[in-house]
Amino acid sequence: MSLLLLGIETSCDETAAAVVAGGRRIRSNIISSQIELHQPFGGVVPELASRKHLQNINPIIGEALREAGVGWGDLAGIAVTHGPGLVGALLVGLTVAKALAFARRLPLVAVNHLEGHIYANYLAHPSLEPPFIALVVSGGHTDLVHVLGHGEYHPLGQTRDDAAGEAFDKVARVLGLGYPGGPLLDAAARGGNPQAIDFPRAVLKDAPLDFSFSGVKTAVLNYHNQQRQRGKEINVADVAASFQAAVVEVLVDKTLLAAKTLSLDKVAICGGVAANSALREHFRIRGAEAGLEILSPPPILCTDNAAMIAAAGYHRLKAGCFAPLDLNAVPNLPLIGGK
Ligand code: KG4
Ligand code: ZN
Repeated sequence: MSLLLLGIETSCDETAAAVVAGGRRIRSNIISSQIELHQPFGGVVPELASRKHLQNINPIIGEALREAGVGWGDLAGIAVTHGPGLVGALLVGLTVAKALAFARRLPLVAVNHLEGHIYANYLAHPSLEPPFIALVVSGGHTDLVHVLGHGEYHPLGQTRDDAAGEAFDKVARVLGLGYPGGPLLDAAARGGNPQAIDFPRAVLKDAPLDFSFSGVKTAVLNYHNQQRQRGKEINVADVAASFQAAVVEVLVDKTLLAAKTLSLDKVAICGGVAANSALREHFRIRGAEAGLEILSPPPILCTDNAAMIAAAGYHRLKAGCFAPLDLNAVPNLPLIGGK
């Protein structure tokens, strides 16, 4: 019988718990979003996020077990995100997971949130096996990774400044679209012309697989200010579509270059920005042209969830990587080389 893991995720503004069988099959996936709480502030307020996690975590875990139809005695372990993320937010999930592991005598498994994002692809594609290229695009990270095996990663490229999601969120704010910026900009861009404005694409000749999004972000800001100074109307849909096209082009180009360089024919995209409709569409078209298999989780598994944490935890559990009960939160935990 497949081992059942409870996953717990509270690294940012989603309180989530899930039960996953054999690291691949979702039995329940409960996500409580805090969007309404943070909306008036235009972004995540860390202190409020922690307090809301505290209120929600126990009921969410109860719901995850109930929906999966399992009791504590059926579980083989508890997997929890210990970084990267907001320290106060991480500590809520971590403390609850440690207390439950101790009280229920279950093994505790520490999961890196970024590794969790990669594992969302194993949930969505049950026959997926390494090696493959992963593009992790979230609110805090933009990483190109060679996935060699379970828990075995080789870094290929990363952002030198803003993460892709961060750029989406900042540009959405400039355009008055509000929070959460990424999905709102995605929606606004649907009615716009992606060729209306030629925003810059950073190439970075010395490290072709690295990214930089601060230039395109500043270009949008400058364009916005210039238009306003000239008293001209800003076509929000066109600006959104043109900005999105610039970011998507760079993400797709560099990912395909990585696959070509390493002679790999499988690419998995993940993280919140992987929910972006233009990014998914361009990967589909360009991947097919290049003869690559492009994998992506459904949007609900791209953004933060606990099923991906349970999936990543399963492989750690099988490898005997148990966490001690004094496990701490690591806000800047890197995907590679972190403990
Ligand atoms: O992975 P995630 O849920 O949380 C982090 O680990 O950061 O990613 C959140 C990021 C935010 O920047 C959000 O604006 C972006 O993903 N995002 C999107 C879309 N949905 C979420 N960006 C562009 N288009 C979307 N549809
Ligand atoms: Zn995330």
